[in-house]
Amino acid sequence: MMHTPGACRAPRSHSVLLGLAAAFVPMLASAQFTLAPLPYAADALEPHIDKATMEIHHGRHHNAYVNNLNAQIKTYPELAGMSLEAMQGQMSKFNTAVRNNGGGHYNHDLFWKVMAPESQRGAPSAALAAAIDKTFGSMAEMKKRFDQAAMTRFGSGWA
Ligand SMILES: [Fe+2]
Repeated sequence: MMHTPGACRAPRSHSVLLGLAAAFVPMLASAQFTLAPLPYAADALEPHIDKATMEIHHGRHHNAYVNNLNAQIKTYPELAGMSLEAMQGQMSKFNTAVRNNGGGHYNHDLFWKVMAPESQRGAPSAALAAAIDKTFGSMAEMKKRFDQAAMTRFGSGWA
């Protein structure tokens, strides 16, 4: 998965607004969605992703999504106690704020978990390696196509 700087769903100016909005959202006693710390140091993914980019995406974007999602509990009390996974399965019944911020929270949470520092790099399982070979011919070819897809996708940068 490739995620490039500034490739969040929201444009930069929107991201700034999200950050400002998060700063003014009062802490809710019933706030249930939380921003987990990064599972590694902010500079652990360098040189692929620099520390500033990680801090922006975690401390600003992700934090804003969490705060804005918590603010929606007033409108949708059923969100309290609901897992992010359960929410994703019923997004159509919620407003745009829940969809955008619930999706942003989920995506960023997933993003932190699927990446790891070079020191923790591992090989794919035998089953995954076989599936990659079957689908793409080789790991190298999969990486090539993956890079191509990410670099030519407008907007999100996700491939
Ligand atoms: Fe982000």
